[in-house]
Amino acid sequence: MSALFEPFTLKGVTLRNRIAVPPMCQYSAVDGVTNRWHWIHYPSIARGGAGLVIVEATGVSADGRITPGCTGLWDDGQIEGMARIAAEIKAEGSVPGIQIGHAGRKASANLPWEGDDHIPAGDPRGWETISPSAIAFGGGLPRSPRRGHADGSHDQRR
Ligand SMILES: Cc1cc2nc3c(=O)[nH]c(=O)nc-3n(C[C@H](O)[C@H](O)[C@H](O)COP(=O)(O)O)c2cc1C
Repeated sequence: MSALFEPFTLKGVTLRNRIAVPPMCQYSAVDGVTNRWHWIHYPSIARGGAGLVIVEATGVSADGRITPGCTGLWDDGQIEGMARIAAEIKAEGSVPGIQIGHAGRKASANLPWEGDDHIPAGDPRGWETISPSAIAFGGGLPRSPRRGHADGSHDQRR
């Protein structure tokens, strides 16, 4: 018989089944802050019965967001909404997870339905991209990022 609906335990965490919902960007945040869209969307998925619900790619800094609509956790003002999502996912019987990250050279992009490409340089909606290597992703994301270091310093060359 399939183990899909059997609980799964990893160290101290037990999922009620093996169904995990991957992180999926909602492109609906403002300044990285969640709102009613996220507060309803994520608990609804949990209510559907998944064992694990992973919140979308969430920027560790403003310049680490993929798009201006992506969620963030770099400012205290973002905590309350995200904590609410986690609590509501739990209340529905699922385990909350989150994908935190930095979009690097893929950052500062338009929303998918607005082109999915880099926001043009000089457009106030965009920002300078920064990445481990000053190499552009290519395609619709042609902008060369500034090279940054783990200690937070940056090379000036592009
Ligand atoms: C609307 C949408 C948003 C997505 N957002 C993310 C994301 O935030 N982080 C990520 O790693 N993958 C993201 N993905 C990719 C999904 O996680 C991926 O499609 C899912 O794991 C299923 O894998 P598959 O496409 O290989 O079947 C997104 C996919 C969709 C459709």
